[in-house]
Amino acid sequence: MLPHLSLLALQLLAVSANTVTYNWEVDWVAVSPDGHARPAVGINGQWPCPSIRANTGDRVIVNVQNSLQNETTSIHFHGIFQQGTNEMDGPAMVTQCPIPPGESFTYDFVLNQTGTFWYHAHVGGQYLDGLRGPLIIHDPNAPFAYDEELIMTVSDWYWDQAPYLIEYYQSPLNNDVHGGSEPVPNNTLINESQNVTFQIQPNKAYLFRIINMGGFAAQYIQMDQHDVTVVEIDGVYTKPHRVSQLFLAAAQRYSVIVQSKGNTSQNYAISVWMEEDMFDSGVTPSDEDDSSGSWLVYDPTKPLPVANESAETNDGKSQDDTKFIPLDGQQAWGPVNRQIPLAVPTLYTALSAPADLVNNPLIYGNNTNPFVLQMGDVVDLLITNYDGGAHPFHMHAHNFQVIARSSWGPGDGPPLTIPSNYEAEAPNTPMRRDTVLIYGNGYAVLRMKVDNPGITLFHCHIEWHVEAGLTLVFIEAPTELQNLGIKIPQGHLDACNKGGIPTSGNAMGRSGNSWLDLSGTQMVSALYDWGALVNPPPKGSDPAMASWKRSRLGRFVESWF
Ligand SMILES: *[C@@H]1O[C@H](CO)[C@@H](O)[C@H](O)[C@H]1NC(C)=O
Ligand SMILES: *[C@@H]1O[C@H](CO)[C@@H](O)[C@H](O)[C@H]1NC(C)=O
Ligand SMILES: *[C@@H]1O[C@H](CO)[C@@H](O)[C@H](O)[C@H]1NC(C)=O
Ligand SMILES: *[C@@H]1O[C@H](CO)[C@@H](O)[C@H](O)[C@H]1NC(C)=O
Ligand SMILES: *[C@@H]1O[C@H](CO)[C@@H](O)[C@H](O)[C@H]1NC(C)=O
Ligand SMILES: *[C@@H]1O[C@H](CO)[C@@H](O)[C@H](O)[C@H]1NC(C)=O
Ligand SMILES: *[C@@H]1O[C@H](CO)[C@@H](O)[C@H](O)[C@H]1NC(C)=O
Ligand SMILES: *[C@@H]1O[C@H](CO)[C@@H](O)[C@H](O)[C@H]1NC(C)=O
Repeated sequence: MLPHLSLLALQLLAVSANTVTYNWEVDWVAVSPDGHARPAVGINGQWPCPSIRANTGDRVIVNVQNSLQNETTSIHFHGIFQQGTNEMDGPAMVTQCPIPPGESFTYDFVLNQTGTFWYHAHVGGQYLDGLRGPLIIHDPNAPFAYDEELIMTVSDWYWDQAPYLIEYYQSPLNNDVHGGSEPVPNNTLINESQNVTFQIQPNKAYLFRIINMGGFAAQYIQMDQHDVTVVEIDGVYTKPHRVSQLFLAAAQRYSVIVQSKGNTSQNYAISVWMEEDMFDSGVTPSDEDDSSGSWLVYDPTKPLPVANESAETNDGKSQDDTKFIPLDGQQAWGPVNRQIPLAVPTLYTALSAPADLVNNPLIYGNNTNPFVLQMGDVVDLLITNYDGGAHPFHMHAHNFQVIARSSWGPGDGPPLTIPSNYEAEAPNTPMRRDTVLIYGNGYAVLRMKVDNPGITLFHCHIEWHVEAGLTLVFIEAPTELQNLGIKIPQGHLDACNKGGIPTSGNAMGRSGNSWLDLSGTQMVSALYDWGALVNPPPKGSDPAMASWKRSRLGRFVESWF
């Protein structure tokens, strides 16, 4: 019997350790997902972009060829921890150089998680222009049963391209005339399309993997006369919890089980609509009802009914996601040995400061630096939102525990204060995920465990805010990081050389006796300072302006030709 057993074991091993390879040529594609034609960034001549599907334990290799000609690119695998492979995380100028046009670059990492993830460009707002797709990690031992699996993406969509919108957003004109408001999306898409039909058979359990791949808007999702049972949030299994409506901030994911009806007597509408409270007053999407239809189709010969709008209340606001309890019952980590208070968004300080003060670091407080964290630390991020809008905060390479969070509101100030006894009030089994919505003028306490050496980006996932600098970096366990012996692949170094970006030394590329010499620091670090627009545009349209634009966006490459 023994040989048989070991043969079986070997086979199992082989099954659980496949290599999944994708060869992707990134290029412009003409698209029209909502009837309005525009160019989008697609893959292998196609858009929507393909899904990555793999099993837990698999090695994923993505060979990227940048054929955009006029823009750089880079790809982040959202929610993937990248343990030991920090150099594969993807954000341009944080863990890699942007990939220049004409160059290729290989991402290579092992999946050690399960659930619903996604990938997206991480340079210059490029994912808003289309470069994004699902990343599904199957689990042969998933703690729930289902008959069939369906992927559903929701996303906000702009008719204008992101580089233009970023310039508009950060322009003095927008600041003076519109109070610095974010561009409002033109439409909502389901599966990067509209009027999508999901074919359903009676008496089956469907696992819907739902991803908000948008850049700004939170989305409500409701299926007429079908409740959904949440079983996973952001790659974390949860105790099954039944709800009639989902509410997904940008970048969040939910796996839900939908039990189909017992007969095919009718079809049912699925409604998806944007949370308009995040849009500045007076601006609404051009599509008159800012919502997108799709259907659960039991019988293709029967009509596609309109959604029952009276069943669609915006109670997502009160649908506190902290009720989704991790299935593994992990208690709050502790003891906490460091607290980091953060105020967001410094961006608004920067946008509204007078010209003679905008460069003065004192007005931003002293927290614009990167944070060095030590291995084993348990850190509480105490975040107060001084803005009336909600911000979905995302941490790379980790799930954090949500120890405290104020409920929706108060919207219009004054900001709520984090209770001093928040630790005593903390839930026993806190929600764990990688993206959490912090409500307008509210607060959150996020707890992270420093156990994954690398450069860990933490940022608002509203892409306009990323571009404006609402990001910070944790230098996580740098000593252990050096001991990992990561060898940067030659292709990665080539991308830097082609772009004229240093690959060693301090943030200014200085070394030797000059490690502590950061004089002239602006261009590179400015992008990642916490909220501070330390590098405002020079006046006029001279070469300095062009250089400033490149440094801000990382995506423009005209000077390289
Ligand atoms: C979806 O259906 C509506 C209503 O029939 C129609 O106005 C719209 O153009 C359709 N969208 C697309 C992208 O076909
Ligand atoms: C790059 O080229 C595409 C396709 O022609 C165009 O739509 C896009 O606006 C260009 N990007 C920039 C930054 O000029
Ligand atoms: C995989 O994940 C488990 C638990 O999440 C962790 O203990 C282990 O170290 C990880 N393995 C690797 C190779 O990263
Ligand atoms: C929805 O999108 C996913 C991911 O792109 C795709 O796999 C699936 O086939 C789509 N479903 C429908 C009904 O279009
Ligand atoms: C079909 O299912 C619906 C919903 O469960 C139910 O209301 C209806 O009575 C059923 N119709 C028939 C013909 O069984
Ligand atoms: C939609 O797109 C057009 C131009 O492409 C723009 O002018 C308009 O203001 C956009 N926004 C909304 C919210 O309609
Ligand atoms: C529409 O929703 C309302 C509120 O939930 C409900 O009372 C009504 O019966 C629904 N109508 C249909 C046709 O399902
Ligand atoms: C910021 O200031 C506080 C209080 O003066 C101090 O405790 C903290 O160490 C400073 N942080 C940095 C990054 O300088």
